Amino acid sequence: MNFKRNSLFQRNMEPEEENMGPEGGVLAVWGSPSSGKTVVSVKLAEYLAKKKRNVLLIFADMTAPPLPCVCAAADLEGERSLGSILAAAHVTENLIKKNCMFYRKNDYLSMTGMLKGENVFTYPPYEQEQAAELIVQAKEVAPYVIIDCTSTIASDILSAVALMEADTVLRLVNCDLKSISYLSSQLPLLRDNKWDADRQLKVASNVKQQEASSHMEQVLGNVAFQIPHSTEVERQCLEGEMFGELCLKESRAFRKEIEKIGKEVFGV
Ligand SMILES: Nc1ncnc2c1ncn2[C@@H]1O[C@H](COP(=O)(O)OP(=O)(O)O)[C@@H](O)[C@H]1O
Ligand SMILES: [Mg+2]
Repeated sequence: MNFKRNSLFQRNMEPEEENMGPEGGVLAVWGSPSSGKTVVSVKLAEYLAKKKRNVLLIFADMTAPPLPCVCAAADLEGERSLGSILAAAHVTENLIKKNCMFYRKNDYLSMTGMLKGENVFTYPPYEQEQAAELIVQAKEVAPYVIIDCTSTIASDILSAVALMEADTVLRLVNCDLKSISYLSSQLPLLRDNKWDADRQLKVASNVKQQEASSHMEQVLGNVAFQIPHSTEVERQCLEGEMFGELCLKESRAFRKEIEKIGKEVFGV
């Protein structure tokens, strides 16, 4: 076990800034395929970690595990998998601590996800119970929990449970027909009260300049947030350096919107 110096688990969990309200919460980031769920999850986690909030970022995707794509392997300490957490009979705080990975460049940030080369068959199947325990126990590990969900909620237990159990759900869509088709196919799955789909915050993601906001609202209805396209973000995705600083002027609007989400969702 590596409880490294100044690490997540040795830190004083008290808020460092005086004006902070109640600490933390669980955010599920969900939406249509390739809408930018991983981008938004990573950038929000980074935003909070830079503000010295302890964050646990959980990557639910077992089909295209994001961990190998978000940063260089050398930036992660430990080679442990979400698969071994979910494979346990019961998910405990300690099990998560033992199996998550530390981000070397910021002590406030830890992550867990499937490792490169792993898939849903690498570990024994898990049930709704383990997924729910993971979410409850994650809150004990870090006050801020972000779950990067998949779009395939009908077959992905962890993402489905996250949509039920999270304090807040962001529902990302792109301003295109594929996203509309996705929502009309998948939202009926969430009709039941336990999902409370009406409470989800709608986010227009990766909005390009030509997608005028009036047109977008016509297609998507009222959105809580609009995350603009940034070529710098796109480049970071291509290079597998998604935690990189966004320095260019053209990324300013993107950074502002992430900040807005951080403030409105987490009060940070
Ligand atoms: N705000 C953005 N600006 C630029 N490119 C983006 C943005 N959001 C998403 N992308 C692009 O879309 C791709 C898919 O994003 P990703 O977060 O992996 O989608 P998802 O997790 O929803 O499948 C990224 O690799 C990137 O090229
Ligand atoms: Mg993703």
